[in-house]
Amino acid sequence: MSQQMADLFKRITTGVHVIGVAAGEQHNAFTAAWVMPVSFRPLLLGLSINPCHASYALLKAGGCFSVNVLGKDQLELAGHFGAPAETDKLAAIPWRSGKTGAPLLDSSLARFECEVMAEYPAGDHRLVLGRVVHGELLETAREPLIYRDTADMDGTSAIYPQGFE
Ligand SMILES: Cc1cc2nc3c(=O)[nH]c(=O)nc-3n(C[C@H](O)[C@H](O)[C@H](O)COP(=O)(O)O)c2cc1C
Repeated sequence: MSQQMADLFKRITTGVHVIGVAAGEQHNAFTAAWVMPVSFRPLLLGLSINPCHASYALLKAGGCFSVNVLGKDQLELAGHFGAPAETDKLAAIPWRSGKTGAPLLDSSLARFECEVMAEYPAGDHRLVLGRVVHGELLETAREPLIYRDTADMDGTSAIYPQGFE
């Protein structure tokens, strides 16, 4: 549909994250670029999630999510978690459950653990606010992966509208 529109929106600089979700014994994780800090007190992060993703049901059921910040060298991991959950995407990846139960990747450069505080309709997505209950900066010198550097890995050039109607 619109490569130009996708290029334009990728000029809003964000990182690339693996969002971990869990409910009971079930867990999953998916790649997300649309994550941002939204409040100091309380500490809040906003996440925009497509409700069609398998991860959304787990996020709703578990009431928590983790944000694993990927490094510049982790493009392949972004692609791995950016694919639908046909098999257990976490099976071959070292991870552990955090305080909330949501998966924390060993290889992330920083991570946050959030409890869902609120959720709002946001067009074809849902805007989820998470209260940050824990966080760790694991590697200060490592550069984060930037959304623009993932090119069209997420296939959004086929989703964006052609114009601003
Ligand atoms: C670089 C990249 C960024 C993405 N950003 C988001 C995002 O911010 N929100 C979202 O809902 N999906 C995003 N996706 C799409 C999901 O990762 C993808 O649809 C995934 O298959 C969902 O996983 P699940 O079906 O296991 O829940 C992104 C994908 C990639 C590759």
